[in-house]
Amino acid sequence: MGRAFVYVIVGGGVAAGYAAHEFVKRGVSRGELCIISEETVAPYERPALSKGYLFPEAPARLPSFHCCVGTNEERLAPKWYKEHGIELILGTRVKSADVRRKTLLTATGETISYKYLIVATGARALKLEEFGLNGSDAANVCYLRDLADADRLVNVMKSCPGGNAVVIGGGYIGMECTASLVLNKLNVTMVFPEAHCLARLFTPKIAKYYEEFYQSKGVKFIKGTVLTSFDFNSDGKVTAVNLRNSGKLLVDMVVIGIGIRPNASLFEGQLTMEKGGIKVNGKMQSSNSSVFAVGDVAAFPVKVVGETRRLEHVDSARKTARHAVASIMEPGKTGDFDYLPFFYSRVFTLSWQFYGDNAGEVVHFGDFSGSSFGAYWIHKGHLVGSFLEGGTKEHYEAIAWATRLKPEIKDLSELERQGFDFALSL
Ligand code: FDA
Ligand code: NAD
Repeated sequence: MGRAFVYVIVGGGVAAGYAAHEFVKRGVSRGELCIISEETVAPYERPALSKGYLFPEAPARLPSFHCCVGTNEERLAPKWYKEHGIELILGTRVKSADVRRKTLLTATGETISYKYLIVATGARALKLEEFGLNGSDAANVCYLRDLADADRLVNVMKSCPGGNAVVIGGGYIGMECTASLVLNKLNVTMVFPEAHCLARLFTPKIAKYYEEFYQSKGVKFIKGTVLTSFDFNSDGKVTAVNLRNSGKLLVDMVVIGIGIRPNASLFEGQLTMEKGGIKVNGKMQSSNSSVFAVGDVAAFPVKVVGETRRLEHVDSARKTARHAVASIMEPGKTGDFDYLPFFYSRVFTLSWQFYGDNAGEVVHFGDFSGSSFGAYWIHKGHLVGSFLEGGTKEHYEAIAWATRLKPEIKDLSELERQGFDFALSL
């Protein structure tokens, strides 16, 4: 049994939704495009899962956050795919790929062939078992990657109001889930190996601001340690977490956010890999000219930093997806992708944005005892990265523009004196 399409997208997350939108904008014909997704729902804005989806009051639910509402464009509910003649094959995992024959084999036994393939398989949450621990299957241990995880998290939260939650990991999931758990009135302790939260991006000074804000909401931090084991009750539920050199914490629930791995294994040995993902060029094209990769799974040349990077953020997923479609449908008119990395987060009443690269020396600015402050990163004499908490749309545009220009910085103390005004002056 088999079907043939001109364009196939494997994976049905953020990048798939934005790619579909771009295909339609560029005039794909009915029956030409197919999306195969392991998830049972049409592509949605994944960032909602750690924010609005977990709100105790009026939580966000599908269909409200299907792609492409994240960029204020039309919302692609399942009906939209039907109307445009796009085949949406949901709840179906692709179990193998043959790039030489241009075919995919699904877990339901169907062979699907393509002329062009877009790999948008994203990433999976790393499990405790991969660090030699166990307990991921316990009923009150939660991860957060997809809708099923989010539903489970909501149910577990509701089962222990006023209880104790331990969040393992001080990255994005750790920070955003902690805020949501607090809003749901749980007592939260965050545990992570680094000296401060969001160590991938934050400087110690920036982290201190967020940690103090979290502490003001009752959150406790145990840093510089890791989980060594769980205690279980006779139902198999976790009752305590044991930490290396830091004792035992009694818990009602646990949330784990210890990083991800790109879903690239279908193409291992068939496509060139880099940084754990599929290596692509500035057209998002892999080492096989019919296969493109986008989103979390793609390692692409980021011109502005002069390196190949794999970015794990939604803006990059949306834009790499659109660029791949442009490269496929209008190859003559589409140049190399020129992307300024952009990350953001929203927790409690706080909201920050970051542009560029957090390399080199840091100059902080603004009022760290108030509600708006930021930082610039200066590498090899140029401004390469900017962070701002509590800005307006215009403020964020100003730091994005300043970072994109990569101005030469001769005097760090002068930059510090000018602070945010430096970005405005460009
Ligand atoms: P994504 O993970 O969205 O989609 C991959 C899809 O492929 C899934 O549908 C999966 O089921 C499917 N798939 C995988 N293997 C398959 C196979 N073999 N066969 C069929 N289907 C397969 N970023 C940000 O910038 N700001 C934010 O606030 C947040 N917030 C946030 C919250 C949470 C809870 C998460 C988990 C992530 C974020 N992110 C974020 C990150 C952002 O969501 C992420 O970068 C994008 O979702 C990546 O989009 P992709 O389409 O690449 O993968
Ligand atoms: P992450 O890479 O942001 O953080 C992982 C954290 O795990 C580290 O900071 C560290 O504290 C911790 N850790 C690592 N090994 C550990 C160990 N052995 N024991 C205990 N802790 C350990 O990953 P994440 O927070 O799991 O997020 C998953 C993905 O979702 C990432 O790709 C992230 O970019 C994405 N995400 C992004 C946003 C956003 O951009 N606002 C929000 C949520 C999720």
